[in-house]
Amino acid sequence: MNVTPSKEDKFTFGLWTVGWQARDPFGDPTREPLDPVESVTELAKRGAYGVTFHDDDLIPYGSSDSQREQHINRFKKALSETGMKVPMMTTNLFSHPVFKDGAFTSNDRDIRRYAIKKVMRNLELAVDLGAKIYVCWGGREGAESESSKDAFVALERYREAFNILGQYVKDQNFDIKFAIEPKPNEPRGDIFLPTIGHALAFINTLDNPEMVGLNPEVGHEQMANLNFVHGIAQALWQGKLFHIDLNGQRGPKYDQDFVFGHGDVKSAFFLVDLLERYNYQGMKHFDYKPARTENKDGVWTSATSNMRMYLILKDRALKFRNDPRVKEAMKNSNIPGLEQPTLNSNESWKDLISENIDIEAAGKRAYHYEVLDQLAMEHLMGVN
Ligand code: GCO
Ligand code: MN
Ligand code: MN
Repeated sequence: MNVTPSKEDKFTFGLWTVGWQARDPFGDPTREPLDPVESVTELAKRGAYGVTFHDDDLIPYGSSDSQREQHINRFKKALSETGMKVPMMTTNLFSHPVFKDGAFTSNDRDIRRYAIKKVMRNLELAVDLGAKIYVCWGGREGAESESSKDAFVALERYREAFNILGQYVKDQNFDIKFAIEPKPNEPRGDIFLPTIGHALAFINTLDNPEMVGLNPEVGHEQMANLNFVHGIAQALWQGKLFHIDLNGQRGPKYDQDFVFGHGDVKSAFFLVDLLERYNYQGMKHFDYKPARTENKDGVWTSATSNMRMYLILKDRALKFRNDPRVKEAMKNSNIPGLEQPTLNSNESWKDLISENIDIEAAGKRAYHYEVLDQLAMEHLMGVN
């Protein structure tokens, strides 16, 4: 089993993940700031393909134009020395107090205009660095109470922002697409576009829906107690899985951002199985937080753990699918039966009217899924 990460695996990390200083609502940072150049170098050594970042992760808020230039040039040098790529970029529309009531959906029109301008400026840098995906995570787009925000109108403004940005990208001839990242809550009490399903429906209302897809995060759907594998299946089926945030979460609670697979490992197993079977071509992006208890060594250990978890699960999923006993069990469970269209091509609803199946017999049929599921768990645990 080869679990050594390499560039071909297309593993990427946010600068804000390994660079997290572990400041939380109850405590001060436990780690020193990390130079983005060091992150690029260390991640490259460990087999990563690239890094992603928010504008403010690289260029501290308040930098002058010339300081901005300096930060970008140092960073570009590190990229070219290591061969690391920047396949995705995003905007910080949540840290500064100006965004406390939201960015695209702030009640303050001036703030909404500033937010869109901030995205446009960073889109230019994204294209310059070769990014093809631009993530929009609306962490502050939401409310603590229905009295403070008209959700109906907020969606209208949310749509307007994406329409303006879509037009900007078209007018500039930029080769980049947007990926919305849903999250149910945190930091807002409730966030708009809380799940994959909400976001998919929203995208259909945009002027340029083909320019917008999804960046779903494992933990975010699980915070809402939803089945992440099913959500990803639907995003893939609708051609909208532009990007993915892999991490770990244990049940509906605060956003844990654990290492991938260190939460619901069964769900992670079937997620990798799904991505590999349907030949997901995008980046495998880790959006996690190294535990607050760790020093720098722990940061790099956990970065490698994310990649190893993916590769281990990929190996296990492949062995599961190729096991002759599993193939036999799948036949016994009639898994291939679902692939057959319910009507033949020459049939219509009329053909169903006169049809009589033996309902009693069909109702007695057993599906033997217990056999299959135990085989899956044994493969996951490496028993086979
Ligand atoms: C979270 C989010 C963020 C976003 C990132 C991109 O954990 O709440 O995942 O980390 O992915 O900020 O904008
Ligand atoms: Mn998260
Ligand atoms: Mn994320």
